[in-house]
Parts: sequence; structure tokens; C-alpha cells
Amino acid sequence: MSNKMDQEIRTFTANHPKSKTMQAEASKYMPGGSSRATAYFDPYPFFVDKASGHHVYDVDGNSYLDFMLNATTYIVGHANPTVTEAVKAQADIGLSYSAPTEVQIELAKTIVDRVPSVEKVRFTNSGTEGTLNAIRMARAYTSKPKFAKFEGGYHGNHEYVSVSVYTPMNKLDPNKTTAVPEWPGQPQSVIDDVIVLPYNDLDKCTEIITKNADDLAAVIMEPVSSNFGYVPATPEFLQGIRDLTTKLGIVLIFDEVQSFRLSSGGAQEIYGITPDVTTFGKIIGGGLPIGAWGGKEELMALYDNEKGPVISHAGTFNANPATMIAGLETLKQLTPDVFNRLNTLGDEIRQKINAVFGELDIPGQATGMGSLFAIQFSDEDITDYRSMLRGDQELKKVLYTGLMNEGILMFAKVQGAVCSLTSETEIDTLVGSVRNVLQRIKG
Ligand SMILES: Cc1ncc(COP(=O)(O)O)c(C=O)c1O
Repeated sequence: MSNKMDQEIRTFTANHPKSKTMQAEASKYMPGGSSRATAYFDPYPFFVDKASGHHVYDVDGNSYLDFMLNATTYIVGHANPTVTEAVKAQADIGLSYSAPTEVQIELAKTIVDRVPSVEKVRFTNSGTEGTLNAIRMARAYTSKPKFAKFEGGYHGNHEYVSVSVYTPMNKLDPNKTTAVPEWPGQPQSVIDDVIVLPYNDLDKCTEIITKNADDLAAVIMEPVSSNFGYVPATPEFLQGIRDLTTKLGIVLIFDEVQSFRLSSGGAQEIYGITPDVTTFGKIIGGGLPIGAWGGKEELMALYDNEKGPVISHAGTFNANPATMIAGLETLKQLTPDVFNRLNTLGDEIRQKINAVFGELDIPGQATGMGSLFAIQFSDEDITDYRSMLRGDQELKKVLYTGLMNEGILMFAKVQGAVCSLTSETEIDTLVGSVRNVLQRIKG
């Protein structure tokens, strides 16, 4: 461990004695004391007491200005009064039933109205289940076995998308993208059915997709890639993938689990490019577990109960009214003006953080699009997984831990998002804290 990291961890440990005890207790019953990869970091996570608005409070009495927002979900802040009241009212009359409710029509209508490519939508409980069903649907529709994803692309944690997500540098073939298992024991049959593509490289993608077209049911991609630091696809690249998949009869799936927070109609509205299927999660559940996928009528008809579904999709908590009302009350607050404001604040954060890197003469930059931003220790243009990975990943950990010590919460990859409560004050606090930690890193 580097000296700098040692120093930040010492500060963290000194400020989190109670969390340390809780982690030890949690580890007796759960492996590593946790049920969620992103909720663990070294030396141990802080345990949360409560959250409100832009802040999270831990059991050790520390507070954090939160730009993680439960993985970008809390776009109107934690414990938003309108959302909370609606969920409380629902709790009084039952949290879920094994029958539909009116509010699920309202949330479905809101999504269909906002996203023209989504003619029908179906709800589930996580983004993972959303991408699982989108891929399953494309396979059933095309009767083809394979699908393509991008190197470094994260689409949840079911088996098929758990290929070439966090591949370390020494396992990457320097000459081409390949399907690399994420853990031992993944069946070779799974790996064989996943084609891995390089992001933002239309020539290579055209070559690979064309070669595999007869077997390819779908291409799944984020228009703004979260795992590389919210790196946007270039418009030409995205349009190229759209044209190619249309020509070859391949279903194009946009994973907008995160990028749906960029505008009323998601990233696809900003680009003006229409996928066949879109997956959703996070903000559309207002903070309760959610996933969804939707798209063209002819594809979604495979799930049509009235006609006898080709694909049966069950789920005890699918479209439960508590999640539906939380999502609806969140989306109602998100007008085009709100999205514009959030995206402008994101631009301002990137510009101010870039200025700090320049001022301190440290190779680094802020990446991202609109309200989604990330910090990278590299001055190379970041366009794909490999260019992101060539940056200094150890320094990201120091910055993340250092920011926590400053009372700022981000993803461990040092990325995050703004919410409707973010103002100049919060931005200045964030940028000031980034400057403090970078100064400590510089020494
Ligand atoms: C782009 C993307 N797709 C899918 C998922 C999976 O969503 P969930 O964590 O709800 O399963 C995530 C979660 O972070 C995501 O960022």
C-alpha cells in the first residue's frame, strides 16, 4: 500500500471505530460482511445511520455530502418528502399484492410517453433482471443464440453479461477484444455466446458484428458508458452501430439504467438515435428496487399474457405499488428544466475539476456527460475501457478515501452524479475537497 493510501486509511480508521466493530460483527454472518460489491471498500465500509436530502450520516457521527446517491438513484435527494409521503401512504394499505394496481399503469404510461422508442414496457426488480430479459427477448425474437456487449461494459450481474467487465490489463489481448470470464467456473458455452466489442471504434465493431451477424441476436450497450467514467459514445459511433444493426437484423439494446437521468427521454433523446429496446432501473423506482425493459411492440408482444406469452416472466415483487409510486413521484419532479439544470451543473463540475488538475499540475481530468461525472488520473483522451484502465487506478482509491475523509461521498471509482438539491455551494465544497486531497497526493 502506498504511503498516501496509508495516511488516508489511518484517518478513516480513526474516524470510524463503531463501523469497524459492526464490520467485524457483519463478517461473522456474511462473507466480507456484505451483500453488495459496491458497498465494500478497504479497510471497511462505514455503516449508515440515516440519510436526508444531499447528505448521508454514519453510525460514527460523520456526515457526507453525497454525490454517489445510491449509485445515481437519488436524483431528487434522499428521503425526498413527496416520495416519502407517497410510500408511507402505500405502506398503510399494503406494500405489494399478487394483482396489478393503478399506479403501475401510471408509471408505465409516464415512461412510454417520455421515450418514443418504448411502445410497451415491463417492470421487474433490478436493472440486472432488466438486461437479462432484454437479451432473452432478443434471442427469442431472432431465434439466434449470441449477443454482443462492449469490453468493460457493466449491465448487472447475471451470467451472460458477466463477461469482460472488469478484466485486468494483464488478461487483455493487446491486439483485439475477447470474451474474458469474470470468475472461475463460468461455462465455456456462456463465454462462446458473448461477442466482445471495442467501444467507440466503428471500424472494428463493423468487422466483428458483420462476421457474427448470422448468430447475433442483439448488441447491448450504454450510450454513455458508466464503467469507464461516464464516457459518451461519439454520435457517429452510436449512429454507425444503429445503422449496422438495422441492416443486419440485430436487436439494438440501449442500457439506460444510469443514463436515463440525462433527460426526459434518456440519452437516446439527446443523441436522437432510436434503439429497439431500452433497459431502465435506478431513478424510475424512486429509491426502491426496480428494473424495467421496453421497446417495440412486436418484441414486447413475446410477453403478452392476453395472447399466451412466448416468454413467461414472473416475479413476486414485480411492479409492486410501493416501488411504482416512489418512481412515479420522482419522475413527476423531473421536468425538462430540471434535467437541463442538472446537466449544466455536471458541466460546471467537470470544468472546475479540470482547472484544479491544471492548477496543481497533476495529470488528470474529469470525464462524463451531463449530470454524470468521474475523475481520472490520466491526461490521455478516454474513449474506451482500455484508455480508462491505462490511468492510475491506485490514485483513484486514494482520492476516494481522501474524499470520504473530507466528508464527500462518491463511487469507489471516483465517479458520481448531482441531484436536484445540488447548488453552487455543494459544487464548491466538492471541488474544494478534491483540491485538498490532490494537494495531499502531491505532497
Ligand atoms: C448500466 C447498468 N446496467 C445495469 C445495472 C444493474 O442494475 P441493478 O444494480 O439494479 O441490478 C447497473 C447497476 O449499476 C448499471 O449501472
